Amino acid sequence: MPEADEAAKEQKNFYLDIPQTNEAFFLKGSNNLDWGMKNRLSQIFDPNTGKTVMLAIDHGYFQGPTTGLERVDVNILPLLPYADTLMLTRGILRSIIPPTFTRGIVLRASGGPTILKELSNEQIAMDIEDAIRLNAAAVAVQVFVGGEYETQSVHNMTRLVDMGSRYGIATLAVTAVGRELVRDARYMRLATRVCAELGATYVKTYYVDKDFDTVTASCPVPIVIAGGKKLPELEALRMARNAIDQGACGVDMGRNIFQADNPVAMIQAVRMVVHDGVTAEEAYKFYTSQQP
Ligand code: R5P
Repeated sequence: MPEADEAAKEQKNFYLDIPQTNEAFFLKGSNNLDWGMKNRLSQIFDPNTGKTVMLAIDHGYFQGPTTGLERVDVNILPLLPYADTLMLTRGILRSIIPPTFTRGIVLRASGGPTILKELSNEQIAMDIEDAIRLNAAAVAVQVFVGGEYETQSVHNMTRLVDMGSRYGIATLAVTAVGRELVRDARYMRLATRVCAELGATYVKTYYVDKDFDTVTASCPVPIVIAGGKKLPELEALRMARNAIDQGACGVDMGRNIFQADNPVAMIQAVRMVVHDGVTAEEAYKFYTSQQP
C-alpha cells in the first residue's frame, strides 16, 4: 500500500467508544414495521410531537359535492400549509392538489355505494399500484363492524393490509358506525380492536364522551379521531383536546374545519391543540382573533 494511503487510513475515525444507537420508533405499536412503512408514517405523524392533523376531504366519494367542498381548489388549497396529511380520493388528488404538497397523502381506497344506497356495501376501489404511483403514505378503508356488510368490509381491510404491507404502504381503518348502532366506548373498543388485530396500521374512530381512554388503551396501534358533524368551533376544539388528553395520536377532521366560518383560522387552532398542547379556550381565542 502506498505510503499516502496508509497515512490516510490512520486518520480515519471509527468512533470505537460510541456504540451505534437503535432508537425505538416514536409511534405506538409501530416499532416492528419496516423502514418504508415507518418513513411513510413519519409523513403522516409529526415525529416531533408524535401527533397529526389530518385534513379529511374525501366526503365526495359517496356524497358528491359536500358543503364546503364544492370547489376544492378554492375551498381547500389555502388550508394545505397547515395540514400534516390530506385524506382524499385519487380523483381530487390528481385533478386539483399540486404535486408540490410533500406531506402525507392518505388515499380513499374503498367505495361503491353512494348516499342513495346502503353505504356499508363497499368494495376495494383502487389498485395498490395506483397508490404507489401517487406516492401515498397510506390507504383508507371503511370498516362497518356490526353493519349489514361487516364481513365484506373487514375483508376489504385485510386485503388492503396485505397489499399495503407488500409495498410498505400503511392502512388506515375507518370505523364507520351505522345509524342503528350505539356510539359508545364499548362499541368503539370492539371496532378499533378488531381492526388492529386484523392488521390495520392505524385506526380512525369517533370520540365518545365517556371512557374514551379505554378505547385508546385497548387499541395497540395509534388512533386518530374523526371530526364528525359540524359543531360550534369551541366545542370541536374541546373534543380534540379531550381526545388527545385521552391517548389519541391526532385528528382526521373534515367538516369541523372546512365548514367553519374561518377554515384557515380553524385548522391553525386545531394544530395548536394537537401539536402545541394549548387548551381549547386558548385556541379558540386565537380563532376569534383572526379575520376571515
Ligand atoms: C368517512 O366516512 C370519511 O372518511 C369521511 O369523509 C371523513 O371521516 C369525514 O370527516 P369528518 O367527519 O371530520 O367530516
